[in-house]
Amino acid sequence: MQPPLLLLFLFLPILLPGMWANPEAEPQVLQLLQTSLFANISSAEVSAVALLGDMPIFVLDPANWSIHFHWPWVHQATAEGDAENIKSHSKVFLRNMVRYVHEVAQQAQQDYPFVIQIRSGCVLHPNRTSWGFMDVGADGTDLTAFEVERQRWEPRQPSLLAKLVSKSLTSQKAITGLLEHLLSISCQSYILTLCRYGRAALERQELPVARVFTRTPTPHQLLLVCRVTGFYPRSISVAWLRDGQEVPPGPALNTSTILPNADLTYQLRSVLAVAPHDGHSYACRVRHSSLGTRSLLIPWKNHNAAPTIGIAITVLLLAATASAGGVWWWKHRQVDEATWETREFII
Ligand SMILES: *[C@@H]1O[C@H](CO)[C@@H](O)[C@H](O)[C@H]1NC(C)=O
Ligand SMILES: *[C@@H]1O[C@H](CO)[C@@H](O)[C@H](O)[C@H]1NC(C)=O
Ligand SMILES: *[C@@H]1O[C@H](CO)[C@@H](O)[C@H](O)[C@H]1NC(C)=O
Ligand SMILES: *[C@@H]1O[C@H](CO)[C@@H](O)[C@H](O)[C@H]1NC(C)=O
Repeated sequence: MQPPLLLLFLFLPILLPGMWANPEAEPQVLQLLQTSLFANISSAEVSAVALLGDMPIFVLDPANWSIHFHWPWVHQATAEGDAENIKSHSKVFLRNMVRYVHEVAQQAQQDYPFVIQIRSGCVLHPNRTSWGFMDVGADGTDLTAFEVERQRWEPRQPSLLAKLVSKSLTSQKAITGLLEHLLSISCQSYILTLCRYGRAALERQELPVARVFTRTPTPHQLLLVCRVTGFYPRSISVAWLRDGQEVPPGPALNTSTILPNADLTYQLRSVLAVAPHDGHSYACRVRHSSLGTRSLLIPWKNHNAAPTIGIAITVLLLAATASAGGVWWWKHRQVDEATWETREFII
């Protein structure tokens, strides 16, 4: 290898899209989710969506099985390499799939209606190894799965139907060979192409907006609610601080699961049960990649404990950000919602 080429090879991981530059990068998952309702022997309603991570990239029109791209960059990426070829054969594949399912249903004397779900795709790890998968479910239970390396279908339930389907699919060597290629090589290269064209969208960062308010289910209980919304990507850390110390997990602390918003951002809430007038100060602390090494702090202070203080400011200096001079970012969003106890600021 020529020295410049060797250098390029060595530094390729740094030049490639962001995911390789970051050793803590998450694996990329590309998956096609397909759901088909077989109402009777002459009908099949097929719907499908493809996702890169949590981002929908295209859907199948159930009326005419044409593909609709969600973003121009997906269109561009799909015009390259195997993807264009796969797209042009998608209707043939769907027709064969529908015919095959009807045939098996007749052989196995399966009653209509039933639903078949197929999940296929691959996971690409930051170390550039990839892992392909294709799972088939019937009426909500796992039926069979393709083992890519062995090019075999394995039953995922003890039923006769699962054995029959697995055996018959495994015997079609031309198809298992093609699937192996699609789920490993084509899928991996499609992810890389998508990441190249869609970098800006995939690395999108949306700042969390946080608000603290209270609920009093009984006169003796006060619930502090920290509602965090509008953030992307999904990964986030939300904690309550009592007098500056993180409240450990326990029965008083309730954090919801992370729920999706309609605009492809996320939300969650964290509820801390406290005794009214307990004399402590509380703050909700949010950490998210869009904030870098800073944290968002939303203090809550008991009205009665500090009636004259307009804005309660709790200072939390993170070791990582305790730079000389202590630069402060003070952020004030959702002005209409903010009261003196819900001002948020970023350290
Ligand atoms: C099969 O199901 C489809 C969709 O539900 C329906 O429109 C059609 O009339 C049915 N055909 C028969 C032969 O039952
Ligand atoms: C498929 O149907 C949709 C409407 O449901 C239409 O907008 C689209 O142009 C059709 N595509 C083809 C290739 O016919
Ligand atoms: C690559 O990373 C994955 C996930 O971290 C790991 O399971 C796999 O063994 C790694 N492969 C190599 C060759 O390092
Ligand atoms: C936490 O959530 C669970 C389930 O919704 C509920 O039963 C429990 O009372 C909650 N605890 C607090 C402190 O809000």
